Amino acid sequence: MRVAAYVSAVMLTCAWCVLSEPRLEVPMTLVRNASHQGAFCLDGSLPAYHLHKGFGAGATNWLLQFEGGGWCNDLESCFERAGTRRGSTRYMSKFEVFSGILSNNASLNPDFYNWNRVKLRYCDGASFAGDAKFDNGTSILYFRGQKIWRAIINDLLPKGLSKAKKALLSGCSAGGLASFLHCDNFTSFLPQNASVKCLSDAGFFLDEKDISLNHSMRAFYEELISLQGVEKNLHENCTSSLHYPHLCLFPQYALEFIKTPFFILNSAYDVYQFHHILVPPTADLHGRWNRCKLDPAACNPNQLSILQGFRKDMLTALNQFYTYSRRGGMFINSCFAHCQSESQDTWLAIDSPRVNNKTIAEAIGDWYFSRRITKEIDCAYPCDTTCHNLIPLP
Ligand SMILES: *[C@@H]1O[C@H](CO)[C@@H](O)[C@H](O)[C@H]1NC(C)=O
Ligand SMILES: *[C@@H]1O[C@H](CO)[C@@H](O)[C@H](O)[C@H]1NC(C)=O
Ligand SMILES: *[C@@H]1O[C@H](CO)[C@@H](O)[C@H](O)[C@H]1NC(C)=O
Ligand SMILES: *[C@@H]1O[C@H](CO)[C@@H](O)[C@H](O)[C@H]1NC(C)=O
Ligand SMILES: *[C@@H]1O[C@H](CO)[C@@H](O)[C@H](O)[C@H]1NC(C)=O
Ligand SMILES: *[C@@H]1O[C@H](CO)[C@@H](O)[C@H](O)[C@H]1NC(C)=O
Ligand SMILES: *[C@@H]1O[C@H](CO)[C@@H](O)[C@H](O)[C@H]1NC(C)=O
Ligand SMILES: *[C@@H]1O[C@H](CO)[C@@H](O)[C@H](O)[C@H]1NC(C)=O
Repeated sequence: MRVAAYVSAVMLTCAWCVLSEPRLEVPMTLVRNASHQGAFCLDGSLPAYHLHKGFGAGATNWLLQFEGGGWCNDLESCFERAGTRRGSTRYMSKFEVFSGILSNNASLNPDFYNWNRVKLRYCDGASFAGDAKFDNGTSILYFRGQKIWRAIINDLLPKGLSKAKKALLSGCSAGGLASFLHCDNFTSFLPQNASVKCLSDAGFFLDEKDISLNHSMRAFYEELISLQGVEKNLHENCTSSLHYPHLCLFPQYALEFIKTPFFILNSAYDVYQFHHILVPPTADLHGRWNRCKLDPAACNPNQLSILQGFRKDMLTALNQFYTYSRRGGMFINSCFAHCQSESQDTWLAIDSPRVNNKTIAEAIGDWYFSRRITKEIDCAYPCDTTCHNLIPLP
């Protein structure tokens, strides 16, 4: 099937873009053959992706981007998700806006604009890594993320992916975690002589205690792994090395086993991690953090020092990679943000965030094309005046 792209002129909604600019909307492709491979969204619907074909010098290069959107770790939350766009292609938008790293405009995305660019829709609830099924006779849930990954790859290989010259596997949030999980597996499908690299945006979820000293993220991941059958799809060399193999779902433990060159883009004050790992609602029953969560300027000195501690722990977890990884890259800035590669205003714009005067688009392009070594670490909050500190409302 030929995939057409539509460009429509609409007003961009970001506050600092006042001009009306064309935006690229790419139609959904359902993976019709997925049912033969047992690959279904939570509710049993077919998985999907959006492909915008490459052109010119980029026609043989491929960028695959995992969509994000949290996880579901128990039956209740998965049944709930199965009836939404997070768990079923039936409820998803049939067109996706491609911007930032997915943009087709050379001035907005100079290094990847003419590549084949694919957004993999997220509908399994376990970062494309589960393999199980719940069926009690009356209700069914499919936990088939790993099979969805495989079915999408199988669909793309004959469309040119199997002959790729350059490839980049990317993703944001739960999709950024998927990028860690599937990076080496991605490489195995591509030609030996292709240049294959991986990027995680806001996917470096830390194994960190919350403010009540509870390992609530570990507990959450434990439930996710056992409900969705994730363990067998974690990096085998990590699980065979660690005393607690389930920890391999945390990128900080899996990282040293990933052989493909990797770039880590993350904020040291990632808003999702702040709100869900460091200060989950269960650890702040009295809501003492509510104002600080919405506006870093409203944090008291004690809260700020806890946030600085979180940044320090993230940098410690990255230290080995920072020091020893020769082909790796990183951009750890200090903006209150979550996902910075998919929206134009954080990826590359006149006032987009910078570290050492370098935008995220430049840093990632420099690393991908080996123009220069790119390992940027920002100074601690509030020093960075290029941040937008846009905190989404809960
Ligand atoms: C569909 O999947 C089956 C089973 O994996 C495979 O044998 C067949 O070649 C696939 N067909 C297409 C058109 O991809
Ligand atoms: C590409 O982006 C630039 C800068 O925003 C804009 O001026 C130009 O019109 C865009 N080009 C196309 C073909 O959309
Ligand atoms: C099957 O599971 C669903 C969801 O947990 C529940 O509502 C339903 O009652 C269960 N059916 C049986 C037969 O246990
Ligand atoms: C890889 O090798 C194949 C077959 O020799 C060749 O056609 C292709 O251009 C090569 N790709 C790269 C990136 O060198
Ligand atoms: C990649 O993952 C698929 C399952 O999705 C598996 O069949 C295959 O063996 C994996 N390849 C490698 C090299 O691990
Ligand atoms: C710690 O986290 C677990 C799992 O989320 C939860 O069941 C437990 O109530 C929490 N304990 C405290 C003291 O917050
Ligand atoms: C695991 O390590 C072995 C030995 O170093 C290596 O041959 C194998 O490719 C590794 N597996 C993966 C998935 O990287
Ligand atoms: C920062 O980079 C821009 C180009 O992106 C350049 O015009 C400017 O001079 C640089 N500023 C400094 C202080 O290096």
